[in-house]
Amino acid sequence: MALLRRLPPVLRALLAQALAFAALVALARLGLRFPGLVWVLMQAVGAVFLSRWMDLNPRWILMQGALPFLVRALWGAAVPAWIYLALFAALALVFGGGLLSRVPLYHASRDAWEKLEDLVPDQPGLRFVDLGCGFGGPVARLATRRPEGIFVGVEASPFTWLVAWLRCLPRRNAHIRLGSLWRTDLAGFDVAYAFLSPVPMPALWAKARREMRPGTRFISHSFDVPGATPQRVIPVKGREGARLLVFDL
Ligand SMILES: C[S@@+](CC[C@H](N)C(=O)[O-])C[C@H]1O[C@@H](n2cnc3c(N)ncnc32)[C@H](O)[C@@H]1O
Repeated sequence: MALLRRLPPVLRALLAQALAFAALVALARLGLRFPGLVWVLMQAVGAVFLSRWMDLNPRWILMQGALPFLVRALWGAAVPAWIYLALFAALALVFGGGLLSRVPLYHASRDAWEKLEDLVPDQPGLRFVDLGCGFGGPVARLATRRPEGIFVGVEASPFTWLVAWLRCLPRRNAHIRLGSLWRTDLAGFDVAYAFLSPVPMPALWAKARREMRPGTRFISHSFDVPGATPQRVIPVKGREGARLLVFDL
């Protein structure tokens, strides 16, 4: 059960729907017959029950209960099947990279870019990485302001990567890579910056400490590192509680 609860919520949600559906198939095989809407209700109740058991949060549970009714409502609708595939592909291209690591797509404010600039030493050859660079705002900005430095963005969602790549194309000192931040060696960077979510912070901090050299800097936008105290905390405009946490290694 502990193993199950460690799965990303999206996988737990799919598993709950699949198990609820399997139970209904078993009932149908036993010869039970109900009106269509009752089957849908049973699927929703089963999925909600299993989702609670799997420790999904109330927002997920609400969606789990609504999903069977939504599917039922769209079932007979004259919507071509390719639309669903296109929607799924679009969502995967924009949000897929952060799905399993539970990192949504949102952006640092311009104020955060400016304050980030103050935290990046103005030295020739300095190497900076944005781990999960989104649409590339911080990398593009810093590359323009610090022509002597090298600015790298790593992004796992293909469409998001493409936008960042196009945005940084005119800047010869900005490089946007498609791939996982977990497969990015931090050893060559002087400053690593991340704006992710609370979930990956312990593992990311362990990675930074393992790979980054003494004297380098790790900056987390807004999310604490459990058990570590930042040397500086700089409030930034934008979302409530937005701040840059600066850890000098
Ligand atoms: C909150 S956005 C931050 C965007 C940008 N760094 C900023 O400060 O404005 C986080 C980004 O990290 C990406 N991401 C999540 N997990 C990732 C991973 N394992 N590897 C690379 N990128 C990832 C997401 O796709 C998303 O675009």
